[in-house]
Amino acid sequence: MKITVVGAGNVGATCANVLAHNEVANEVVLLDIKEGVAEGKALDMWETSPINMYDSRITGVTNDYHATKDSEVVVITSGIPRKPGMSRDDLIATNAGIVKSVTEQVITQSPDAKIIVVSNPLDVMTYQAYLTANKDSREVMGMAGILDTARYRSFLAMELNISPKDIQAVLMGGHGDTMVPLPRYTTVGGIPVTELIDSDKLEAIVQRTKTGGGEIVKLLGTSAWYAPGAAAAQMAEAIVKDQKRVFPVCSWLQGEYDMKDIYLGVPVVLGKNGIEKIIELDLNNDEKALLSDSAKAVKDVMATLDGMDI
Ligand code: LAC
Repeated sequence: MKITVVGAGNVGATCANVLAHNEVANEVVLLDIKEGVAEGKALDMWETSPINMYDSRITGVTNDYHATKDSEVVVITSGIPRKPGMSRDDLIATNAGIVKSVTEQVITQSPDAKIIVVSNPLDVMTYQAYLTANKDSREVMGMAGILDTARYRSFLAMELNISPKDIQAVLMGGHGDTMVPLPRYTTVGGIPVTELIDSDKLEAIVQRTKTGGGEIVKLLGTSAWYAPGAAAAQMAEAIVKDQKRVFPVCSWLQGEYDMKDIYLGVPVVLGKNGIEKIIELDLNNDEKALLSDSAKAVKDVMATLDGMDI
């Protein structure tokens, strides 16, 4: 069984490495347009197999989509990353063209693949892949919620000095500064987080989560890769192993949460068919207002994309 990762930049390479290391698939194909990059990174990873004790084969290819044939999952990470001072939305024109072309080629080789988009601006690039792939929307999704909740959970773990393993959380909305972490649906070993941390500190953590991607861009001069790559790998694993995991995933909404024709992060069940169920939470009025602001921000960028001749 094969998983393809398109784009051998930092995020794609990290994702492929996690997939191979964790033996999620027996074949991982890493594809890039730059001659030798995917081959070199894949070979370097394969050379860790006797150290890390795994036997998933990793192959790197330059633009050879035949090598991706019959992939069960394809993760698309292609595109340019953010530089300091840029928002994710600044990437739209360049990355939409790239995502369109990649999706066309992926679909030719693997018509049944589930597609996970990681390129930014995330929600709108997922929409672009959906428009191009001409597939059931349950099979075209975006990775953001696992990353954003991971940031939120990791900050809570630091604040409370407890294991991040014991923090469960939901976060909804777009993958931008309007994302909506939900403290009311955050628990620590089953205990509501609101009982363990005062509201000012919690609010500060929510704010830090919303700009968590930008915090890394400021430090590194480019966007993050360890957490985004690992998050995409976790989604691929849930699909190929039919785990029915519950994750926030960027999904095509058709009436859920009173929203229509929009890709937005919502909690879902992820299994072999892709998004097998969208879970509808009972949001209060404040949460609904935040989600609606986030949806508006995503819709604006979707409208920009619709107005472009990609
Ligand atoms: C981030 C980028 C990958 O949030 O969107 O780090």
